[in-house]
Amino acid sequence: MIVLQDVSKLYHDNMHALRNVTFHIEKGECCFILGPSGAGKTTLLKILYAMERPTSGQLSLFERNTEKLGFHDIQALRRHMGFIFQDYRLIDDWSVYDNAAVILQILGKSSGYIHSRVWQMLKWVGLQHKVYDRAGDLSGGEKQRLAIVRAIIHDPDILLADEPVGSLDDATARYVMNMFHRLHRKGTTLVIASHREDPFIDFARVIALDRGRLVGG
Ligand SMILES: Nc1ncnc2c1ncn2[C@@H]1O[C@H](COP(=O)(O)OP(=O)(O)OP(=O)(O)O)[C@@H](O)[C@H]1O
Ligand SMILES: [Mg+2]
Repeated sequence: MIVLQDVSKLYHDNMHALRNVTFHIEKGECCFILGPSGAGKTTLLKILYAMERPTSGQLSLFERNTEKLGFHDIQALRRHMGFIFQDYRLIDDWSVYDNAAVILQILGKSSGYIHSRVWQMLKWVGLQHKVYDRAGDLSGGEKQRLAIVRAIIHDPDILLADEPVGSLDDATARYVMNMFHRLHRKGTTLVIASHREDPFIDFARVIALDRGRLVGG
């Protein structure tokens, strides 16, 4: 499903964010990318989403070598993926509803389906009273819940999650982790970056990173 072969990422010619990272993630696996701040977790997820190109090495997604793919092919692959960004990346001037709905609109779903799915998902994360609010006015935890909804609303085959519960209280974090468990049981491939192992997830494989190097997994 995901194959990373000897991938390095250099910023500014001398900042090695990743060094010779190789691993395979099979369909349906759940992997934790663990490592301290600055270890390269976000860089790694961005490479897996093909939004950053490796400086050297190769990424294949859904059995396709991404090096050979153009912008439209990459966009097509991403429709089968979801990404919960560490910094949320919501469109602040859009409503909560529009942020949640955007991928369903891109996928050409009917407005009836979109309406019921968006309401169902926003209710599920307790944001139903904020549906028509501006996303930029939400609190940190509310933004994180909206970012989670946006990433999973189209039932992606691969979910990449960058510190997905960092801004959530314990109860909500547990709720979200249970949802990841459900997605995992349904066959979604999950890659979750975190500073620490999650006590609620005992079904994940751990890939440990330190200063850009794989140190276990
Ligand atoms: N666009 C960039 N330009 C220059 N350096 C970068 C860039 N992105 C990341 N880095 C550097 O690469 C290293 C790894 O960063 P990354 O964001 O991947 O770490 P992280 O493991 O996600 O950290 P955190 O847990 O704090 O989110 C850091 O030293 C960071 O400063
Ligand atoms: Mg990070």
